[in-house]
Amino acid sequence: MPKNFHITTFGCQMNEHDSEIIAGILSEKGMLKTDEKENADVAIINTCSIRENADKRFFGTLGQLKKLKEAKSDFIVCVCGCMMQQEHIVEEVKQKYPWVDIVIGTHNLADIYDLIEQTVEERHRIVEILKDSTLINEHLPADRKYKYKSLVNIMFGCDNFCTYCVVPYTRGREKSRNPHRIVDEIKYLAQDGVKEVTLLGQNVNSYKSEETDFAGLIEMINDVDGIERIRFMTSHPKDLSDRLIEAYIKCDKLCKSIHLPLQSGSDRVLRRMNRRYDANRYMSLVEKIKKAVPDITISTDIIVGFPGETEEDFVETLNIVKAVEYDSAFTFLYSIRKGTPAAKFDEQIPEGIKHERFNRLVEVINDISAMKNQKYLGRVEDVLVEGVSKNNKQALSGRSDGFKLVNFRGSEELIGNIVPVKITEAKTFSLFGELKYR
Ligand code: SAH
Ligand code: SF4
Ligand code: F3S
Repeated sequence: MPKNFHITTFGCQMNEHDSEIIAGILSEKGMLKTDEKENADVAIINTCSIRENADKRFFGTLGQLKKLKEAKSDFIVCVCGCMMQQEHIVEEVKQKYPWVDIVIGTHNLADIYDLIEQTVEERHRIVEILKDSTLINEHLPADRKYKYKSLVNIMFGCDNFCTYCVVPYTRGREKSRNPHRIVDEIKYLAQDGVKEVTLLGQNVNSYKSEETDFAGLIEMINDVDGIERIRFMTSHPKDLSDRLIEAYIKCDKLCKSIHLPLQSGSDRVLRRMNRRYDANRYMSLVEKIKKAVPDITISTDIIVGFPGETEEDFVETLNIVKAVEYDSAFTFLYSIRKGTPAAKFDEQIPEGIKHERFNRLVEVINDISAMKNQKYLGRVEDVLVEGVSKNNKQALSGRSDGFKLVNFRGSEELIGNIVPVKITEAKTFSLFGELKYR
């Protein structure tokens, strides 16, 4: 059997976590993870299909692997992830990339080791994709990227069918994990040193099991000894419940931050996106959350240049951005995705206009982020220290309760602890401070 494997991961935290699971499965079978593709016997590419540039990066990476395959005949190339759930992509891989050995979908990732074994024995290409699956694989090992924090799947798939989005097609129908299995996993993680868990789902608000809803699940996790912080990604404004807002007050471990994708501030565009809320409903939710949890930080996702978006629609987005005062926002240029309803909408917006609006939006967002960060000057924030700062090797780096990136000077022994840091400098995307001794 091949020994060393390398994983390239594109896409969201769900894919990041899937890659941790792939690494866990292969390591358990005695294989070794390597950070250099050149040293690998198996190269795995975990793909994302959310926007066109994600697709392009995948094909670029595949191109590079051809050379490695030519140099080493028993080198195995395996592709998996969201792109592989799309028939036209799999066809393209089959026809144009003969050096790909294994194609595997998002619903049968747990079979990855068996498929590698099969390719080695049978020496032919394997394409194994399930259209969807109602099965939830429990007890899969995961080789975590971080020692002190962990991603935890609570549900899979999405039933929302926003008209621009491929996820319902690539991840299938929504299904929730049993709450006791989730709590068991988190108890195990706590014993393994994890202090912070991020609960993952495309729309965690619609988590439901026979026993509990999402707010109830958070309460259950709040009781796990050793866990100090709970976060979640992502919540859909259409079903953000009062019970969830109450959970911020009831559950001391639930971090005071929320990612609440807006997508657009125009009711007309929101309707065409099939988001099922309007600007008023969104704003009233934000006001309710801010009132209940005054210190909460709010982040969002916004798409610019959705088909038919007029200057007036775009200005409405700017107005909401200014009214909410987001702590941070991810902004995206609308990207046509084959097979989604919006791909067929008339009035696709010219690239020049999309970029012009995008730049205006980013400017407004950055000004607000900088202004919001200024408010932290002089405050003491609890920071979970994650490691040495990427940009300043003299400093440590971590996240505050509200998910602000905080850098400060201190001993590396602090890594993995939650420590108080007094903020002395505020930048647009990060805070700087000094360790405060209690
Ligand atoms: N389930 C999450 C989002 C997952 S995708 C939610 O509903 O909030 C992450 C973000 O990518 C989306 O919020 C959206 O802003 C963006 N996105 C999705 N499809 C896109 C497309 N076709 N073009 C541009 N941005 C897109
Ligand atoms: Fe995509 Fe909408 Fe589902 Fe989010 S809620 S994954 S944007 S379809
Ligand atoms: Fe991409 Fe799939 Fe995530 S399309 S954003 S990796 S769910």
